[in-house]
Amino acid sequence: MFEVVRAVAALRDEAETGHLGRIERLLDFVRDSGLYPPFHTVESRINEPESVIEGRPYLMFGANNYLSLSEDEAVKAAAIRAISRYGIGPGGSRHMSGTVDIIVELERRLADLTGMEACMTIPTGYMANVGVIRSLTCEFVGRMPYSDSESVVFVDEYIHGSVSDGCRLAGVRTVRYRHNSLDDLERRLEQNRGYTNRVIVTEGVFCLEGEIIDIPEYVALAREWDAMLLVDDAHAIGVLGPRGGGSPDYHDCADGIDLVVGSLDKALGGTGGYIAGSRTLIDYLWLTLRSNVLSSALPCGMAGAMLEVLDRVETATDIRAELASKAHWLRTTLRAEGFTVLGPHDIPSVPLFIGDEAEGIAFASGLLESGIYCPLMRWPAVPPGRCRFRLSIMARHEQRHLDALVEACVTVGRDLGII
Ligand SMILES: Cc1ncc(COP(=O)(O)O)c(C=O)c1O
Repeated sequence: MFEVVRAVAALRDEAETGHLGRIERLLDFVRDSGLYPPFHTVESRINEPESVIEGRPYLMFGANNYLSLSEDEAVKAAAIRAISRYGIGPGGSRHMSGTVDIIVELERRLADLTGMEACMTIPTGYMANVGVIRSLTCEFVGRMPYSDSESVVFVDEYIHGSVSDGCRLAGVRTVRYRHNSLDDLERRLEQNRGYTNRVIVTEGVFCLEGEIIDIPEYVALAREWDAMLLVDDAHAIGVLGPRGGGSPDYHDCADGIDLVVGSLDKALGGTGGYIAGSRTLIDYLWLTLRSNVLSSALPCGMAGAMLEVLDRVETATDIRAELASKAHWLRTTLRAEGFTVLGPHDIPSVPLFIGDEAEGIAFASGLLESGIYCPLMRWPAVPPGRCRFRLSIMARHEQRHLDALVEACVTVGRDLGII
């Protein structure tokens, strides 16, 4: 796969001149190599186990609606009630048009669920990550609170692209440490001890690796080094913890985490993002977070839906246990069939590792022909030669759906000589 990167670099010399010449050349190359992502049109039930895609029924294993709340009748009714009362949009940036009470209530509830003091919602988790790194590392005015040159961010090498984009936007010194290696992180803290404003970023759940991260170990290291700790809990909220509050709830360590960033579009079944932390940090983000200041707020209907979702999440203990046991069954069954399934933990997105892109693409089309919808995660979303499927399990998946998935994987895997 590194040849692909080299071949792409060589295209510069062959490209037609003019603005679009290089873009067209690149697109042709990506399409001809079969690497252009397929976009299928889902006609109904995108968040249900049985979906209709381009006129054909499919079993859906690509949606992250883990708790199956997206299609819940009471949740949809709550969204409609909120739209009837407030209209479809929030009216603009909260700095310009005020802030809607239903969104303020949602933030109070998210703070309570995560165990943090305060919370701010943002239209997407991506925007939350992109904005927050800059706020934590760059000067706002007059070298306050930090001058850019005293800041450094330590990120796990597999951190989500939204954090990497946030680091680039901030222009801050960014140091990658080996995936989930506290030893390597400590070595790099030591090497960069001259930078006094340190921020460590990890994820609570690395869904592409099948791992729950031991956040208390990061809390201890962050304290030792007087660093801020930011945890991206996009795949942990709703799934981990007795109340579904994500990493702080699961590890009972809310007081050791400075900020938790999360997404409303995975287990919570909606769309949107949030940042939760101390009152001081959230007040500071109200002042500085450009993805809040310069962008419109969460839609009101979504806030209404999410309030209903949160009522359910806190008591969804049985659903969380069932999801874990379905994940356990799927992981162990696929492994017994000879597949490589990454990670030690029973989280509801199960990473089925393929590796080679050409095999991954052939496997993906085999699954599609067998009526299974689960797009391939491939370069550039994962490193070249490390493609995989993220098989997402929802509460409404029944054993017969999982059986059909395994049967399709085994048939396609044998045809391709993968198992
Ligand atoms: C770990 C992680 N962080 C952040 C995001 C971005 O969240 P959102 O979809 O709300 O923009 C995602 C979504 O894919 C994610 O997986």
